[in-house]
Amino acid sequence: MHDCLPVDTREACVALDAADPLAPLRDQFALPEGLIYLDGNSLGVLPRATPGRVARVIEQEWGQGLIRSWNRAGWIDLPRRVGDRIGRLLGAGPGEVIAADSTSLNLYKVLAVALALAARQPDGPARRVIVSEPDNFPTDLYIAESLAAQHGCELELVEPDRLAARLAGEAGRDVAVLMLTHVNYRSGRMHPMAALSAAARAAGALSLWDLAHSAGAVPLDLKAAGADFAVGCGYKYLNGGPGAPAFLWVAPQHLQTLAESPHLHRIQPLTGWMGHAMPFAFSPQYEAAEDIRRFLCGTPSVLALAALDAGLDTLLAAEPLGGMAALRAKSIALTQCFIDLVELRCADQGLHLCTPRNAEERGSQASFYRAEGGYAIVQALIERGVIGDYRAPGLLRFGFTPLYLGFADIWDAVEQLRQVLHRGEWRDPRFAHQSPVT
Ligand SMILES: Cc1ncc(COP(=O)(O)O)c(C=O)c1O
Repeated sequence: MHDCLPVDTREACVALDAADPLAPLRDQFALPEGLIYLDGNSLGVLPRATPGRVARVIEQEWGQGLIRSWNRAGWIDLPRRVGDRIGRLLGAGPGEVIAADSTSLNLYKVLAVALALAARQPDGPARRVIVSEPDNFPTDLYIAESLAAQHGCELELVEPDRLAARLAGEAGRDVAVLMLTHVNYRSGRMHPMAALSAAARAAGALSLWDLAHSAGAVPLDLKAAGADFAVGCGYKYLNGGPGAPAFLWVAPQHLQTLAESPHLHRIQPLTGWMGHAMPFAFSPQYEAAEDIRRFLCGTPSVLALAALDAGLDTLLAAEPLGGMAALRAKSIALTQCFIDLVELRCADQGLHLCTPRNAEERGSQASFYRAEGGYAIVQALIERGVIGDYRAPGLLRFGFTPLYLGFADIWDAVEQLRQVLHRGEWRDPRFAHQSPVT
């Protein structure tokens, strides 16, 4: 279907859409008329089914069922049920993923566990370093810094191209955890997860991956990649809605170690009652659940989990059409089409691609740097009905969600960008006013 890339006419884009077997998946979404949405990497589009689904939970399960719905509607199991469905997108088995809390909180939980497990190895005292990269998402660095201080460790930031060398041989002997975001939120660069997880393992360290920009965007196989822990967002490519619950994954061998080690009950530091083996025994003593539920903390957010579950339906609907592999092929083609058209039609406009040209090395976004006016250009584009976003300093960021985007959208978005730039529209002072969320 994507053989005719590169495309240089709108008709060619329309023809690609007509031949696209994934195109009908767009009907699952309530996309506002006339809008081209290139920001599903920040907040996914509302699925048509979500309002009805949430309304049913509110009116029937909450309104009629009231407290009985914890049992009768299975609310109490939602974090695991939704987690299992997310697991299908991650190469994870049932019982390995839980949907709960925010990515930041989940990172806190699993990084604390990873540090504690690393410290228990025979050479644990020598392993005092969390290795990450300087351009990791700030929350990841903030959480890691905080935990490093609590655990008497340090956070070391290593440029991506030097990570493998930092882990190799003697150099890697002081590393406790390699903590990375798989797809960089700014550049879209994707780390080679399997190779770096293997390097961490060879160094005797554990690997922890933030999948905020990967889950639902690229095919993942955490177990085959040899990863140890992962976390990720529900509101981006999983279409779970603003502030949707996040998820965490723990490799089965670590879940087993925790289950078999009563002395590790408090290894997960947020020992709330929902992580207890028997929350409704109301015991004054904490005893961790044997399974992934030990990573829960407080009461599940039922309405938000229902919306996230409806968001997952939109991705799992692609399974009969080839699933994540088919979505990835389309995502690569859409991204390539956007890059080619911007470079062709907006040449000499000061835009510089910051995303790897090799599709294997990027997620589902393209970012362009512009020395001047990046924020204002994005605002002018939004006024023309093309939504991307801006990340300081200077990055115009565009995400491509193959579930609801077509090639004609890409053509039209680039045409709007061309006009904003050629006409200098973005120089209007009203586009300079910076809102709190960019
Ligand atoms: C890589 C990455 N990690 C974490 C987060 C945010 O996590 P939280 O759900 O805690 O706000 C984001 C948000 O954009 C992100 O891009």
